[in-house]
Amino acid sequence: MERTQLLELANKYGSPLYVYDTDKIETQYKRLTSAFNSVDNLKLNYAVKALSNVNILKFLTNLGAGLDTVSIQEVQLSLTTGIDPKNIIYTPNGVSLQEIEEVAKLGVQINIDNLSILESFGQKHPEIPVCVRINPHIMAGGNSKISVGHIDSKFGISIHQVPHIKRVVENTGMNINGIHMHTGSDILDIDTFLRASEILFDVAKQFKNIDFIDFGSGFKVPYKEGDISTDIEQLGLQLSERFNDFCTEYGKEITLMFEPGKFLVSEAGSFLAKVNVVKQTTSTVFAHVDSGFNHLVRPMMYDSYHHITNISNPSGKDRYYSVVGYICETDTFASNRRISEISEEDVLCFHNAGAYCFSMASNYNSRYIPAEVMIVDGKDYLIRKRQTMQDILQNQVVVDFAPKSKSKKEKVTA
Ligand SMILES: Cc1ncc(COP(=O)(O)O)c(C=O)c1O
Repeated sequence: MERTQLLELANKYGSPLYVYDTDKIETQYKRLTSAFNSVDNLKLNYAVKALSNVNILKFLTNLGAGLDTVSIQEVQLSLTTGIDPKNIIYTPNGVSLQEIEEVAKLGVQINIDNLSILESFGQKHPEIPVCVRINPHIMAGGNSKISVGHIDSKFGISIHQVPHIKRVVENTGMNINGIHMHTGSDILDIDTFLRASEILFDVAKQFKNIDFIDFGSGFKVPYKEGDISTDIEQLGLQLSERFNDFCTEYGKEITLMFEPGKFLVSEAGSFLAKVNVVKQTTSTVFAHVDSGFNHLVRPMMYDSYHHITNISNPSGKDRYYSVVGYICETDTFASNRRISEISEEDVLCFHNAGAYCFSMASNYNSRYIPAEVMIVDGKDYLIRKRQTMQDILQNQVVVDFAPKSKSKKEKVTA
């Protein structure tokens, strides 16, 4: 997005502010579909958790995407877009049987990630086909907190427990129609995807009625100029060929699915924050912005890198800064970062702020959750208002406690 347009938006809507460029979302969507264009049946289910504003969901479903959800609330949110429930997959982790049954009633594709629920669900609803999430025991992902396909991870059913899945199917008469994995996020190496895919093909072969294989997501996007990212085109070439061979072996044209979050929306997002204070200390220069990890938690939570530019003074002399927030504990966005000279009231732009930024925001320190703006064909639309004190108080119940009667001693002193 143009620097001047971003500055205008910060002036128009105030800061902090999230801005999403739908051109970039569309480019990414089309890039992924064309990388797999030799597969007859391809389905991209956008991972709602990455950025769940309903306008973004609508934009992606209009492009042809399905939706990948992890909670009944995400399913309900998705349904408000008018999407056919069949185009939603629900991949919860550790939720109750009751929630899964409620989602199943909505007509959504269920994906189960543990044997206990699989058995209970199969006993009660053998007529509803389900997908199973397999843990392929592969270490992948840019950070231990987002590596979810390894042996110690809480996600999925171990590949060593596939015989047990088959036993449950036999005993309940249920039908497995899909095989799924998701091994982590920020996975650079396409060999990791290819190795894990082989494991899924092996599992899929063991079930007769497979309609799709869902390879999850985890594609790494660039975080700054020149940064390396997953080679989607190469992955498309190699995996498509292998997938088409698998369909021939299996004797059926099944669907190849992915559920990308970051790949579709990370680079489309910019987070704008204004500098309140520039503070020179004996060790560094802090640039304090009018935000904190309450709005953008990834650096503090996952040590994530967000490129930061000073859009108010792009051609200033570069200096080194620690960019920090206003939260009452350490909330560092970047340390010792080279940025063009910062003055108080400058607007800083945090790049790659589309995925897992707004959607992880909170009201910590009773700060308001920022507004969101979406750019479509160059025009800006407010898609979420900034919160107000009314929102903070909305569900609080003010109780009129009766005052305690004072003790004798207190009465005397009074
Ligand atoms: C089950 C599942 N699918 C898809 C995704 C999206 O991953 P990414 O944002 O790396 O594309 C996640 C992310 O955590 C996930 O847990």
